[in-house]
Amino acid sequence: MRFQDQTVLVTGGAQGIGAATARAFAAEGARVGLHCHRSREAGEALLAKLPGPGHRLFVADLREPDARSTLVAEVLETFERLHVLVNNAAVIRLHPPDEVNEAEWRGAWQDTVAVNLMAPADLCYRLGRHMVEAGGGRIVNVSSRGAFKGEPEMPAYGASKAGLNALGQSLAVAWARQNVGVMTVAPGWVETERVSPMLEGEMGQKALEQYPGGRPARPEEVAHTILFLAAPGAEHLTGAIVDINGASYLRS
Ligand SMILES: NC(=O)c1ccc[n+]([C@@H]2O[C@H](COP(=O)([O-])OP(=O)(O)OC[C@H]3O[C@@H](n4cnc5c(N)ncnc54)[C@H](OP(=O)(O)O)[C@@H]3O)[C@@H](O)[C@H]2O)c1
Repeated sequence: MRFQDQTVLVTGGAQGIGAATARAFAAEGARVGLHCHRSREAGEALLAKLPGPGHRLFVADLREPDARSTLVAEVLETFERLHVLVNNAAVIRLHPPDEVNEAEWRGAWQDTVAVNLMAPADLCYRLGRHMVEAGGGRIVNVSSRGAFKGEPEMPAYGASKAGLNALGQSLAVAWARQNVGVMTVAPGWVETERVSPMLEGEMGQKALEQYPGGRPARPEEVAHTILFLAAPGAEHLTGAIVDINGASYLRS
């Protein structure tokens, strides 16, 4: 078991990619800190099914700086030592520039940047420094293909993920000598509970045409890559941004 005696925090872990990641870590022996915000019931149900002992649910609205501090304090009080942080939670909200008013535009930017960039930055700051002091650790940030390809219908999302890429790479350099690896995964479409309905019908067909293999990723495939990056042996991948997009977008 690759993560025996290790502790892992997965944000936005009650569903989708976060839930698949939590399940995969628990199956490999980790104690999982499962964070959620609105999906508390789903989080509790998942927690009850995770294999192995010692898992815990943490509830926090990551838009709020104080809630991030409380989350960090609760996690460290519970686990004492955190080995892996997965920044997965995200706001994914449409705000096409030609269709929203200024208040909607600002609101989308505020929430998106707060959850997708400021929250990971704060969690990295506090928990990454904890890892430095404790002798090492791993951070995996969940970004998006949209950071490279553009997100015309949700520009704040694309910008937040591009910022997340730069955050991870900067911290990888900052902590390279302190045994804290910072890696990023950048998925394209992933068949989660949220996305699957969007992939049905004409719009979904058009999206799938981008995929030479004819299908989007499964949540378990993203989880598999996150565990690979967090596992012993991947130390020198620090700073890497790994595309998980079925060759639908090849960046040079
Ligand atoms: N699915 C895709 O096609 C795809 C593609 C590229 C990248 N990604 C990335 O993969 C990650 C997971 O995506 P997913 O598809 O699994 O999405 P999802 O099911 O919508 O999960 C995102 C999670 O973020 C949490 N979240 C949202 N606002 C929050 C807030 N204010 N405070 C705390 N948590 C909050 C939600 O938690 P609660 O439900 O508990 O409120 C939600 O469970 C995201 O970073 C996303 O950008 C996904």
